[in-house]
Amino acid sequence: MASQTYQIAVLPGDGIGPEVVEQATRVLKHVSEKSSKFKLELNSYDFGGAAIDSAGEPLPETTLKACKSADAILLGAVGGPKWGVGKVRPEQGLLQIRKELDLYANVRPALFPSESLLEHSPLKTEVARGTKFIVIRELVKGLYYGDRKEADLDTPGSDGEAYDMMVYNKADVQRITRLAAFLALQQNPPAKIISIDKANVLATSRLWRRVVTETIENEFKDKNLELDHHLVDSAAMVMIANPRKLNGIILTENMFGDILSDESSVIPGALGLLPSASLSELPTGEKPCKGLYEPIHGSAPDIAGKGIANPVGTILSAALLLRWSLGLDKEATAVEQAVRKVLDTSDLGGYGLRTGDLGGKAGSKEVGDKVLEVLDTLL
Ligand code: NAD
Ligand code: IPM
Ligand code: MN
Repeated sequence: MASQTYQIAVLPGDGIGPEVVEQATRVLKHVSEKSSKFKLELNSYDFGGAAIDSAGEPLPETTLKACKSADAILLGAVGGPKWGVGKVRPEQGLLQIRKELDLYANVRPALFPSESLLEHSPLKTEVARGTKFIVIRELVKGLYYGDRKEADLDTPGSDGEAYDMMVYNKADVQRITRLAAFLALQQNPPAKIISIDKANVLATSRLWRRVVTETIENEFKDKNLELDHHLVDSAAMVMIANPRKLNGIILTENMFGDILSDESSVIPGALGLLPSASLSELPTGEKPCKGLYEPIHGSAPDIAGKGIANPVGTILSAALLLRWSLGLDKEATAVEQAVRKVLDTSDLGGYGLRTGDLGGKAGSKEVGDKVLEVLDTLL
């Protein structure tokens, strides 16, 4: 039978990026080798600080072109003290690629890859247990992309003013709400949608609240989707005090989503665990959906080069890539099960193999080796 070939653009990036991506690409290659129906072709490109060093810019044309033509993109992380916060920054490449590919929906699940990690949550076990929400963060508008003025602090007489404009329009909010509703309806029973804003202060938030409400009422009337609104400041408190209250789909704008998703990541154990998908359309699984997949953490300069970074967030991102961009649900589930078994201490047969951020002693490669070993039995 002719086998289908999928192109995956791999962007290792900076710091621990290449270390965690290496483990995830081993997983993808293994999935490819085990199948006679499809092949995954992986090609790496410079991105972020690595690309500033090699090409003078964080998103070189060759990298962008490869990402545009690929079926999916796997990214590590970008940034680091070497490039600082100067004029040309690795992070600009990330913002540019999100915009160029119109990756408007960033999906960040705060789910427990293994219940046995509860013991490692910074929250009390009884507070963290049962937490199950997915943060959906609007990714191509808001403060990140509005008009910006840098302060001029060096010219005598300058008032040193700086600003970042937050802009949203109706269509921006409609499309992200549809995606949130789609993911809510994939759960049985449908998940509650919790929209988070600052409508008591911001005009963009009042637009957000009204358009979210109207989109759900008008387009999902027969589905009886439950919708709630929270103000971002108290929601950040509830997330730590009683996170189960936010169980469901958290729908929010770019900056609030950035902050809340890092906050949420520690509930299941540590920042290094959580995957993300940045999508430009609904992930129906029926047709290929272009996406960029990356762990939610950064380049972790404090531990880079030591081989101790937790690769789980990147491996679980690769699983989302298989499911949503390539429609390979069975393979995605196998990768997730393999990760669970490697981390688990409660299951019969779980290995409890964990990196230092989860209180373990294993290195990134050791975790990758074990995931491959277990995966081999599942495919
Ligand atoms: P960070 O996420 O890199 O690190 C925060 C803390 O978490 C550090 O102590 C780090 O050691 C730890 N950590 C993160 N990932 C880990 C992993 N996989 N295993 C074990 N420990 C892990 O955040 P930061 O230090 O604020 O940012 C560092 C750089 O990364 C900055 O330049 C920032 O702009 C960039 N960044 C990039 C992305 C991205 O590429 N998507 C995301 C966030 C931050
Ligand atoms: C993330 C990161 C990025 C963001 C930075 C590196 C630009 O924090 O992916 O969460 O703020 O979106
Ligand atoms: Mn972030």
